[in-house]
Amino acid sequence: MNLSRYLRDKRKAVDNSLKDYISLKKKQKDIPKQLLESMAYSLMAGGKRIRPVLCIASYEAAGGKSTSILPIAASLELIHTYSLIHDDLPSMDNDDFRRNRPTNHKVFGEATAILAGDALLTDAFNFISEKKADPAKLIRVIQELSHASGPCGMVGGQAVDIILEGTKAKKKDIIYIHTHKTGSLIRGSVRIGAIMADAPAVKLRSLTEYGEKTGLAFQITDDILDIIGTKEEMGKSTGADSAKGKNTYPSAFGLENSMKIAELLIDEALDCLRVFDKKADPLREIARYILLRRN
Ligand code: IPE
Ligand code: IPE
Ligand code: MG
Ligand code: MG
Ligand code: MG
Repeated sequence: MNLSRYLRDKRKAVDNSLKDYISLKKKQKDIPKQLLESMAYSLMAGGKRIRPVLCIASYEAAGGKSTSILPIAASLELIHTYSLIHDDLPSMDNDDFRRNRPTNHKVFGEATAILAGDALLTDAFNFISEKKADPAKLIRVIQELSHASGPCGMVGGQAVDIILEGTKAKKKDIIYIHTHKTGSLIRGSVRIGAIMADAPAVKLRSLTEYGEKTGLAFQITDDILDIIGTKEEMGKSTGADSAKGKNTYPSAFGLENSMKIAELLIDEALDCLRVFDKKADPLREIARYILLRRN
């Protein structure tokens, strides 16, 4: 299969769904103009859309065929974008550049950036609950999404990332940070695709494990690219983790070793897919891409 074509097509489909979301918001006259501008500014700034694409690829791997997965996949991007807006705030990572443009708070101010994040998070659930699908299944998806992004998931990881900044964290705490701040939403994306496709329990378990391995590998490569990548490639400031005293994989395990750990995780992720047929090829290719990516 051709991964670049697959990524391009799926990203386009997700972007169209996100455009629909923004158009819908524009019709809701009671949203303050500046708030909506701030939401759209970060949401439509590009981004790899890897979480929605993983959700769709997992859905297809488990036999799903309908485009009704699209708004559900897009809701993952609403949550992810909120997490980036908040991650960049002065009280968090204090970053000035994201997705090739000044960070949200640099343009709209901190208060609006916080509120734009709040709005995207809240609306992600609204966006899902409007869909015509089996209500019991939608409730399961909503539970997955709140678990993945809440205090047991992404928010928990972000909290420990900030609490331990500037200290030498134990390896087990670094593993917690990475599996939660980034791993949880990626795991959730894969699980949501599988749930929407009615994957049987055994397949859901394999896909969950695939999501865990690729999610952790994704944050390890993010840490590596902060060291070896450039601002132009990444569309965000690099070299800042060590200056901030962030607990990263390279800081704890060394750069070379971190690359080896990421490679091993991707091998294991591929292994989780051995019971799947060629419908899982996009998931296989995405796992390989996570290691080789330069942005
Ligand atoms: C950046 O995520 C933050 C992490 C969780 C590592 P992405 O690398 O997916 O960022 P975008 O969405 O492509 O901008
Ligand atoms: C961010 O991790 C994870 C989330 C946004 C949840 P990082 O702080 O390393 O992400 P970047 O490098 O700023 O994109
Ligand atoms: Mg951070
Ligand atoms: Mg950051
Ligand atoms: Mg980073």
